[in-house]
Amino acid sequence: MSATARRSAPLPEDIRARKGGVPLVSLTAYTTPMAQAMDAHCDFVLVGDSVGMVLHGLPSTLGVTLEMMILHGQAVRRGLDKAMMVVDMPFGSYEESPQQAFRAASRIMAETGAAAVKLEGGVHMAETIGFLVQRGIPVMGHVGLTPQSINTLGGYKVQGRGAAAEALIADARAVAEAGAFAVVLEKVPAALADRLTAELPIPTIGIGASAGCDGQILVVDDMLGAFTAFKPKFVKRYAALGYQAEAAIEEYAAEVRAREFPGAEHVFAEDAPEKTR
Ligand code: KIV
Repeated sequence: MSATARRSAPLPEDIRARKGGVPLVSLTAYTTPMAQAMDAHCDFVLVGDSVGMVLHGLPSTLGVTLEMMILHGQAVRRGLDKAMMVVDMPFGSYEESPQQAFRAASRIMAETGAAAVKLEGGVHMAETIGFLVQRGIPVMGHVGLTPQSINTLGGYKVQGRGAAAEALIADARAVAEAGAFAVVLEKVPAALADRLTAELPIPTIGIGASAGCDGQILVVDDMLGAFTAFKPKFVKRYAALGYQAEAAIEEYAAEVRAREFPGAEHVFAEDAPEKTR
């Protein structure tokens, strides 16, 4: 599938121009129906590589492939009209060289209709961010807790505490200077997120950061309570879909076993007119 940007959706430069304004609203999405549900409410939607853990049952994001991101990107794109779509670059598709990153990012852009890609990393990814931006691919950065690096970060810990703050500040600055139009700050102390938001010329998008960020993002299955394996402290559950789904399935199973479902209203008489839906 090839898709072009929609006129009604904001462009990365519009998102960048929202620096310091009304907070940007964002969620992750992986499917068409969920994208449709958030289209009118989000400024941008991220097809996050969290899809691996949330929908595919993987233990981390490391097993997510470019093909998975493209497939889910296409599905989400079909559900969006007003919100901008950003697609994550998966682990192993961009770290080796700017050229490797360009090959992967250009496939994502051409095959999904994304307006931008997101990649993880600070100082060490700045050259790649600049390379992509100079070649027409808008990039959202992601610093702080970068889940693709859990094996070197020592787990899903808060980043940038104490003496580690300086390195995180350098990462965020490098991403902005390289030309990213926005940067995700994940799991960093609130005071540091506020400092970065004040200092950086591009919007900061917080997840486990601060209400003072220029925008917020959450994994949609976390905030809907659909993903129940664990709940990070920074997640607020606005619904309990996981429990509701299990209760509904339990009720269905009991009704089938008791021959209560299907009821008279769900079956067809020999001679009654048929509704197709
Ligand atoms: O993959 C993802 O869902 C993300 C968000 C947590 C920012 O990168």
